[in-house]
Amino acid sequence: RGAARVLVASNRGPVSYEVREDGSLHSKRGGGGVVSGLSAIGPDAGALWVCSALSDGDREAVRRGAGEDGVLMLDIPADVHADAYNGIANSVLWFVHHMLYQTPLEPVFDAEFRRQWASYETYNRAFARALAGQAAPGAAVLVQDYHLCLVPGMLRELRPDVRIGHFSHTPWAPPEYFRMLPDDIRSQLLWGMLGADRLGFLTRRWADAFEACAERFVGGLGGTRVGVHGLGADADFLRARAHQADVAERMAVLKGEIGEGRKAIVRVDRTELSKNIVRGLLAYRQLLDDHPEWRERVVHVAFAYPSRQDLAVYRDYTAEVQRLATEINSRYGTPGWTPVVLHVKDDFARSLAAYRLADVALVNPIRDGMNLVAKEVPVVSDEGCALVLSREAGAFEELGEDAFAVNPYDVIDTARALHEALTMRPEERAERSKRLAAAATALPPAQWFLDQLHALDR
Ligand code: G6P
Repeated sequence: RGAARVLVASNRGPVSYEVREDGSLHSKRGGGGVVSGLSAIGPDAGALWVCSALSDGDREAVRRGAGEDGVLMLDIPADVHADAYNGIANSVLWFVHHMLYQTPLEPVFDAEFRRQWASYETYNRAFARALAGQAAPGAAVLVQDYHLCLVPGMLRELRPDVRIGHFSHTPWAPPEYFRMLPDDIRSQLLWGMLGADRLGFLTRRWADAFEACAERFVGGLGGTRVGVHGLGADADFLRARAHQADVAERMAVLKGEIGEGRKAIVRVDRTELSKNIVRGLLAYRQLLDDHPEWRERVVHVAFAYPSRQDLAVYRDYTAEVQRLATEINSRYGTPGWTPVVLHVKDDFARSLAAYRLADVALVNPIRDGMNLVAKEVPVVSDEGCALVLSREAGAFEELGEDAFAVNPYDVIDTARALHEALTMRPEERAERSKRLAAAATALPPAQWFLDQLHALDR
């Protein structure tokens, strides 16, 4: 029995390490809702974050015992982690939850899959054991995401005294889709999650889908409660960060790339199939065909940051995005105008610069648990922006009324929405952007985190 009173468990932790050439260790802190949520409970709360050692630097930090206070990195064998993270979590579970499978990408549940599944169990058990060892009697444990679906059930067996929450940052697929998983795996996932006292989802839609799956495949929720917490944007942090000098520098560069007097359609994503970047580019091309008057007067600023590059489907997708952007530029571009400005190197300051300059934000995912970009742009933009938003993003439940709704598969419809967004009257745009920002910040990360914690007490 340990001493931690509040525990968070997730694959990716709040900090990562790098070994410099002189052998010294350097740490870099990440952002996101859970990070700012946890810092809101203060240093005396007895909090511990259990996560995976992901980089060589992380593993070195574990070996040297040099990790940060309040963070416990698990050095899970690299092959076990690769199977669990790439093979099961980011291939099978990510694709099922986002309903992304399509022929010929549909899964083959073969011996290789079973081997990877065994690693997923091993990886989840490593977390359950670590949490069981660190949690004080009656502690609250908040498990995050699809990487760790089996942890609640496993931890419940080891430590019946602790209170367990699980939060899904992804969509959840309805029974008709979820049933594609092998029967025994499907049940194991659901029972694993139902080991929690309480399950959290980003929207009602995903919570309902989970309940329907539980009903259909394992006879209901048992004693587990289900709640919805729609994580919002962190307005204070974003506005302060967006006005620092490095962001101003990036704005100057970006203004040069866009060109004087042109409108900017901005998108910022991890390069991820669910984000639907390729259809976004196709819609932009359609706009230039349907409305030639926009040629030379608009630029599509697309930041597509690398993600999960160990997986071939992600690498291929990145290549497809780059190919299409180049094609559009060579077909439509003129000496003074580059229609698509694509950047693939991750740079948070540059993302904020683009947010500030955006006339239109394009957020068109096939499916998305929430999508924070849709919430962040209206909060940060200097002059208010128009939002083109997929009906399939969780954020649509909160922002739909003041956005231009699109069916993410329909590029003609998306081109139409882009045109309407570009031609909106400035006063209406400012008005709507203000309402979007208010809706986007209704539940700031700190409150989102505390709500879950308090809900576990009840
Ligand atoms: C999604 C998941 C997160 C994950 C993030 C980045 O938002 O819900 O759990 O951390 O993607 O993906 P990565 O694989 O780089 O951790």
